[in-house]
Amino acid sequence: MKTVSTLFDLGAARLSLNGMVGLVPTMGFLHEGHLSLIRRAKLECDSVVVSIFINPTQFGANEDLSKYPRDLARDLSLIEPLGVDLVWNPTAEEMYPAGYQTWVEVDALTRPLEGSIRTSHFKGVTTVVAKLFNAVQPHKAYFGQKDAQQAAVIRQMTRDLNFPIEIIVCPTTREADGLAMSSRNKYLEGADRPAATVLFRALSGAKSAYESGERNAEKLRIIMKDTLASEPHAQPQYISCADYDTLEELEVVSGKALLSMAVLVGKTRLIDNFVLG
Ligand code: PAJ
Repeated sequence: MKTVSTLFDLGAARLSLNGMVGLVPTMGFLHEGHLSLIRRAKLECDSVVVSIFINPTQFGANEDLSKYPRDLARDLSLIEPLGVDLVWNPTAEEMYPAGYQTWVEVDALTRPLEGSIRTSHFKGVTTVVAKLFNAVQPHKAYFGQKDAQQAAVIRQMTRDLNFPIEIIVCPTTREADGLAMSSRNKYLEGADRPAATVLFRALSGAKSAYESGERNAEKLRIIMKDTLASEPHAQPQYISCADYDTLEELEVVSGKALLSMAVLVGKTRLIDNFVLG
């Protein structure tokens, strides 16, 4: 496994990769969710590139970039046994040199849900992912359903900008009690950890109502709201039952839909979602 930092070294290393190249973009502090994306890429591609870059432009002013967990040595030891060919770990200066002024923005899809709270977040995500795509030139790129809106926004950007890249969205990896794996779970202390299963419980409740025939979207949102309200450590930021493609809130669930939520559990902000239909 080769590890490079500069764009120059990445370019040289990319030339030596054979066949179908898969890219798994990450911000490091890897967990089983990230590893599931890498394993899938390994199954479907001849060469696998993992990028590890804590992208400063996707953090809001009130979000603590400096506190984002990092441990490169541990990350490398987790991915080496998976047969990854190349790890790209650029510096912020390499990605955004002095005088940087170009941005990639997706419009309507970035406004609701996460975009309604983290207003400049997706501008940073699409810009860095476009830069990763241009630098690595993969045939396929792997993202997690855990960040459903991010996956939708990247799919839209890829289509709109004609990137010749297949976007593959992989299922959410969960702990045994249903909590979606996330680098942020490490911040859950004491009673916040068991309380954090409330997102999974709320989504499961709405899903089983849907499976029993409930199609009124507001009723599904109320089921999720009531479950979240039963957990004193949880403070919801949004609770959504939206069209899967447009992410617009639904009145009636007829086609594919996305149940999603952002919840503060103690001081930790968690997101999760289920797909219906
Ligand atoms: P990061 O949070 O490190 O996540 C990297 C990838 O892992 C994303 O595609 C994310 O959806 C996926 N992932 C995270 N938790 C998962 C889980 N429990 N199950 C399955 N997949 C999971 O998302 C980012 O980084 C950044 O925004 C990035 C796309 C790298 C751009 O900076």
